Amino acid sequence: GFQSNHPAATRNIAEKLEQTDQRVVIFWGSQSGTSEIFAHKLARECHLRYGVDAIALDLSDYDPETISQIPDTKLAIFILSTFGEGDPSDNTAGLWSWLHKGQPTVSLPTLQYAAFGLGNSNYKYYNRVVDVVVESLEKAGAKAFMPVGKADDANGGTEEDFLAWKTDLFTVFQEKLGCQEREIIYTPALAVREDPSLEPIDLHHGVPIEQHSGSKGKSVKTSPIRALAVTEARELYTTPTRNCVHLELDLGSHSELRYKTGDYLVVYPIAPDAEVDGLLRALGWQEKAETPLLISALEEGAASNIPSPTSANAILRYYIDICGPVARDIVKDLAQFAPTPDARELLLTLGKNKDAYQTFTRRNYVTLGRLLSLAAPGVVWKDLPLSYLLETIPPTQPRYYSIASSSIISARRLAITVGVEKKPLADEPSTEIKGLTSNYLLALSNSFQKTETSPLYQLAGPTSALEGHKIHAAIRKSKFKLPTLPSTPIIMVAAGTGIAAFRGFIQERTRLKSIGKPVGPMVLFFGCRNPEEDYLYRQELEEARAELGGAFEIVTAFSRVAGQKKQYVQDAIRYKANDFCALLDQDASLYVCGRASMAREVGKTVQDMLMAQHGWDEPQLRKWSDSMKRGSKWLEDVWG
Ligand code: 2AM
Repeated sequence: GFQSNHPAATRNIAEKLEQTDQRVVIFWGSQSGTSEIFAHKLARECHLRYGVDAIALDLSDYDPETISQIPDTKLAIFILSTFGEGDPSDNTAGLWSWLHKGQPTVSLPTLQYAAFGLGNSNYKYYNRVVDVVVESLEKAGAKAFMPVGKADDANGGTEEDFLAWKTDLFTVFQEKLGCQEREIIYTPALAVREDPSLEPIDLHHGVPIEQHSGSKGKSVKTSPIRALAVTEARELYTTPTRNCVHLELDLGSHSELRYKTGDYLVVYPIAPDAEVDGLLRALGWQEKAETPLLISALEEGAASNIPSPTSANAILRYYIDICGPVARDIVKDLAQFAPTPDARELLLTLGKNKDAYQTFTRRNYVTLGRLLSLAAPGVVWKDLPLSYLLETIPPTQPRYYSIASSSIISARRLAITVGVEKKPLADEPSTEIKGLTSNYLLALSNSFQKTETSPLYQLAGPTSALEGHKIHAAIRKSKFKLPTLPSTPIIMVAAGTGIAAFRGFIQERTRLKSIGKPVGPMVLFFGCRNPEEDYLYRQELEEARAELGGAFEIVTAFSRVAGQKKQYVQDAIRYKANDFCALLDQDASLYVCGRASMAREVGKTVQDMLMAQHGWDEPQLRKWSDSMKRGSKWLEDVWG
């Protein structure tokens, strides 16, 4: 993780470009960090490969209206991600609201720009942010110097989509700026210096870096990061082949951490020992894994936000994402450090050829450590410096989990439902790719021991690797909230772990009913594979139904029961079309939670059903959908 995030001396973008003599400015709007990484990578490549001075800027560090002062001798690039319900990232909010003022306030007659969007076509609002921004830029008179690029993460294509667009961009650069491509020889921007004299010293191992820290002020939507104790862990699936872990965490005395039913827990993972050790070995750092290291900047603007002094072990374990697949352009770049001619040959072939890279990654699990030892088995990569990894490998990103408890029942203790992700390699199914954060949480829950008397895992004493059963986490506010009035009917649609937030909803309404509040009807549509395997929280749900009587209905859809037709939640909704539409007519709020592909099909089903039931045409349907959305009565919490 690196960032050129020195406190901005000026908030005027044009001034900044003038002061630092940049030809190209790259604005990034990022929530999970991908656009940020792309922007920094691109700026470096402009500079190193084409000799074009370029700077990546965080939009929220500057006043958006100063974009209008950028002269036509400079080029502006916007790399913007869309997430959730077509929302801009936190750091795009300023630009977004300024652009929405429209003309004549926003006038950009000199702006020459290109734009690239990151999105996922499984979502309803695919790449909405870049589309809206480009439309506003055009209206304000800005000129695009190349077509808008878009990445679609639906099939994991983001990286390749960006590479393809980047190639086009550099072609335009060569024409427009008359620059020539040259071979990149790595020159460090960061110095990593060993300093054993600092030993012993508290290295603050594992304290994650606040997202969007630095000059910009804290995000209002996310709390600070704290170490939270896990007080309980329990396996929810009744099948031995898959895992879903229920974790309870104590907010303790961290009064700055508060949650409301429907919010997220942001969890910072730790890389597994096997990956860390494998990479340390390949780099020849295993003997010096704990030696104190000082990180400093060699270039203006380069700064690592990893707390220094640190150690090789801490860098790999907590701060850079060594568990993801190595991107193709990094594979190519790594060739310059290869310890053998064979390794160099292999990396160049994979790096230059998309098909070769894809074939290879379908057969091999290419995390950084595994790639290095595959390319040069048993040989140490002594020319590959840690500074390169710090500058190139993306920082570890946290993962968001919907909170599965109600804040009115349990304000200081919250639950999450963690579906453990693993999938076999396409052409080598005996090898499994494991999701970083969910497998970290699984390992943590496995360090709790099952006892005879309790179905819960009990604390088995802290293990150093799992930090004494504490996880670093923050709370993030969400819009996924119950209606203000408990008497408003609700329809909840969930597949798999999408049930998490609804567990909180149902607990909350059950409590309200028990203290005599009038509680509106609730229907839960829940889909899973098989009631004997993965019917999450079944017992609790049935108890709630018994307690709430007719006010709570559960409709299930099972997709993998032997001898039965595959049923999905949208099929169950169709069976219940009359009740469903009747509830919507009674002002019900509709909640959908689970995979984006499920939410999209549920959305289609609901709309078809309403058109049929009410005899609506398209405009009538759109009017209804818009008013549901405006009133926050149709809420989705979905993931790719
Ligand atoms: P599957 O057996 O086909 O995987 C939780 O993952 C549940 O959601 C499973 O029952 C799964 O079915 C189901 N599911 C998968 N894709 C879906 C889709 N597009 N719409 C609705 N449910 C889906």
